[in-house]
Amino acid sequence: MLWSDSFLCDVVGFCVRFACVFACFLFLRRGNPRHARRMLRTIAGELRERVPFEAQAPGEKIVFPQKGEFAGCDASNSVHVDAFLYDDDAVDQLVDAGKLSRSYCTKCGSQDTRELTFVSHSISHSQARFIFRDALPPLDSSTTVVDVGSRLGALLYAGYLYCPSARFVGVEMSDYFCKLQEEIIAKHSFGDRINIVCADVRSQGELLKKADVVLLNNVFQFFVDEAGQQAIWRFLRESIRKKGALVISVPSLQEALEQAGLAGDKILDGWLEKVELAYPLNDDGDPDEESDALNVHMYTVL
Ligand SMILES: C[S@@+](CC[C@H](N)C(=O)[O-])C[C@H]1O[C@@H](n2cnc3c(N)ncnc32)[C@H](O)[C@@H]1O
Repeated sequence: MLWSDSFLCDVVGFCVRFACVFACFLFLRRGNPRHARRMLRTIAGELRERVPFEAQAPGEKIVFPQKGEFAGCDASNSVHVDAFLYDDDAVDQLVDAGKLSRSYCTKCGSQDTRELTFVSHSISHSQARFIFRDALPPLDSSTTVVDVGSRLGALLYAGYLYCPSARFVGVEMSDYFCKLQEEIIAKHSFGDRINIVCADVRSQGELLKKADVVLLNNVFQFFVDEAGQQAIWRFLRESIRKKGALVISVPSLQEALEQAGLAGDKILDGWLEKVELAYPLNDDGDPDEESDALNVHMYTVL
């Protein structure tokens, strides 16, 4: 059967219109917060299937901190519950189902129990949302965001989904987590704006010098000993030098530096200045103490 010219024109016209509508649909979804939230939940579900419950790499060495909020934590009194994989509701469900305990017994068989400390090695969904939607200014296509110690990639995926133009680089020293991030990036076609550098951040001075935004979420506390942390913080002070660049830190840099046994004021002096953030408020108009966004802090390079 021969197709007439007009029929072919109709078919081509329909295909072009369909492609335009589909392209518009994809474009409008980029940066759409509801789409971002849904996608992040989907990715968290995919990661839960791939990693062990405590979301640690095989043989990963955890260095329990000697100072700060987590001083005194060890394998007997703390449990690793990844906040990107398990939000508060998911944790409640695990506790209700008897799969996770909130307390441990100090004398076996007795009711003399203590609260377990929950330690997360990823950003939570609400903190990521606060960082990209409330804390940072709009990021355009000339912006490079570097996540130091990107692990599961939570901050990278959140950045990609909430900020439709910026480019993201995750630096991670664990091969296991680099491969995992590469798989998720390939699966969701995030490779146009996310790159993973599988290396120790100390070899990435040039990248840090060009970064417009540097993300530091509890990077070294559980992974590097005190002497190592001190060397890394001195390296970061030398490398994060782009005037006006922004640094996001969880917890505050003052706290992170003091945990590393450094004098916070001395390191920050002449390097970074704090930027005040508009934190979520409670019904009385005060910063909402229940919100984990309060642990997010922002600085600008002087
Ligand atoms: C707390 S996790 C941060 C996860 C991620 N940025 C997020 O917010 O979800 C810290 C990660 O930093 C990595 N890390 C620690 N020291 C590093 C270094 N010197 N170079 C590269 N990665 C490092 C660890 O392997 C770990 O996966």
